[in-house]
Amino acid sequence: MSRIAYVNGRYVPHKDAAVSIDDRAFLFADGIYEVIEIYDGALIDEALHLERLQRSARELRLNLQVRPGALRLIFRELVARNKVIDGHVYLQITRGAARRDHVFPKSGTPCGIVAFAHSASRAAAEAKAHKGVSVISLPDIRWKRPDIKTVSLLPNVLARQQAKEAGAYEAWLIDEQGFVTEGSASNAWIVEPSGCIVTRAASPAILRGVTRTRLFEIIAHESFAAKGLKVEERSFTLAQAQAAQEAFITGATSLVLPVTAIDGQKIGSGAPGPVALALRAALHCFAPASR
Ligand code: PDD
Repeated sequence: MSRIAYVNGRYVPHKDAAVSIDDRAFLFADGIYEVIEIYDGALIDEALHLERLQRSARELRLNLQVRPGALRLIFRELVARNKVIDGHVYLQITRGAARRDHVFPKSGTPCGIVAFAHSASRAAAEAKAHKGVSVISLPDIRWKRPDIKTVSLLPNVLARQQAKEAGAYEAWLIDEQGFVTEGSASNAWIVEPSGCIVTRAASPAILRGVTRTRLFEIIAHESFAAKGLKVEERSFTLAQAQAAQEAFITGATSLVLPVTAIDGQKIGSGAPGPVALALRAALHCFAPASR
């Protein structure tokens, strides 16, 4: 089956999908994006992703020119045309195509809109989660606004590649004070020996993950509160992470993924932890799924 993508108002075969070389995302990484999970053919936490898209646009003074309702239709069309059961939809909106100039193009320049969907194996993802992944630490060399979901991801790309070359799945980025900010494409969490679940507070230093937001709701729910679990939003160091009972990452592609080693140091028993696995199992019971 040939894949279908959406490009500036048209559904086209993926292999023929193309944008202008004047597109500002191509020239300046002047664009924003979202990645939404597709689970059982439904879009997970679509509303929160669309809210964050609007926030990213506001922060960059990018006029979206497209209503959330239109984007919802595009997502559904892509899920249907590509027959995706489990996978992801990717949306990118740019400041449009214009003669290269750092200054914004004149108002009314149509923004560039690209979206595509692809399938991912649920079984493979589950197997990976039950095995756990390792992470390495690297300095966080990103700009000072990683809370904006821009396509300007070169430091993230370099970090992820370095992780791969070290045999790890993800890189945890460390700020100048020695605290973990987040992963190159995920939020970072630990479970302390006291049972307290810790993740960095939302600030311009991290992307406020949709999965992260959903986890707060799950942890606060009575079925989890009964397990004596509580969560705190605060910074933690690499040493604190390595001394933790559990560690995990969250994101639309990783969901809740147990981390079993950091820089070669085993976390807890070295096996995926019960808290991370329970949160992973609960995720789709809580996150709204829309068709
Ligand atoms: N990344 N932090 C960073 C830097 C991210 O790139 C992501 C997601 C997250 C988690 O956010 P969410 O829970 O909303 O997916 C945190 C996506 C999946 C990506 O770039 O592919």
